Amino acid sequence: MGVVAVAGGTGDVGRTITEQLAESGKHTVYILSRKLKEGDSPIPGTKLLVIDYSDADAIAATLDAKAVDTVISALGLAGGEGQLKLIAGAKKAPSTRRFIPSEYAAYTPPDAEENEFTTDVLRAVDALRGSGLQYTRFAIGIFMDYFGIPNIPSHLSPFVWVLTLLNAVLQYLVPELKLYQ
Ligand SMILES: NC(=O)c1ccc[n+]([C@@H]2O[C@H](COP(=O)([O-])OP(=O)(O)OC[C@H]3O[C@@H](n4cnc5c(N)ncnc54)[C@H](OP(=O)(O)O)[C@@H]3O)[C@@H](O)[C@H]2O)c1
Repeated sequence: MGVVAVAGGTGDVGRTITEQLAESGKHTVYILSRKLKEGDSPIPGTKLLVIDYSDADAIAATLDAKAVDTVISALGLAGGEGQLKLIAGAKKAPSTRRFIPSEYAAYTPPDAEENEFTTDVLRAVDALRGSGLQYTRFAIGIFMDYFGIPNIPSHLSPFVWVLTLLNAVLQYLVPELKLYQ
């Protein structure tokens, strides 16, 4: 039985992670949130802790007070500065040993060249490498939910897709057509 804190645990991806952890009944589950009220969790079986992502010492105190051993980050857009502070706080918290950064990579390989989608991811990985925390990165591809919403249950926000299957087949058969350029 672990004590897990999910940062952004009511967001699109975080909500599913939090619900599944709570449903498993195997862990004590906290949600870290900037906006929601302490104790007032919308997800059954979990409790809410208010967090200030600008203060690593306060984050460490919050995590240690609840004996959190694992932090799962599901912050939006791979977390930015807030996630770096969360890593710094987890590093300082005596109880915290493990960290999962917000990544869940849709279409970039885990160690892709730096670009607008990977900058925050790579900064978090750098911070984790030197932290002494045990960490795991998840690179999962695109959630298939997007192809089923609204006909399947999902917490993800709807996304509009345009699939050019004919172009893809033609490009494969006749590469010199350069249909994507
Ligand atoms: N593979 C895929 O297909 C796929 C699809 C979607 C997302 N993702 C990835 O999954 C991760 C989570 O994305 P998401 O769409 O679930 O995020 P989201 O719903 O936009 O945000 C999740 C939570 O993060 C907190 N948050 C948002 N902005 C923040 C900020 N600037 N600083 C601190 N906290 C902030 C908010 O919680 P509070 O307001 O309660 O603090 C929010 O509810 C991202 O890394 C994203 O790239 C992957």
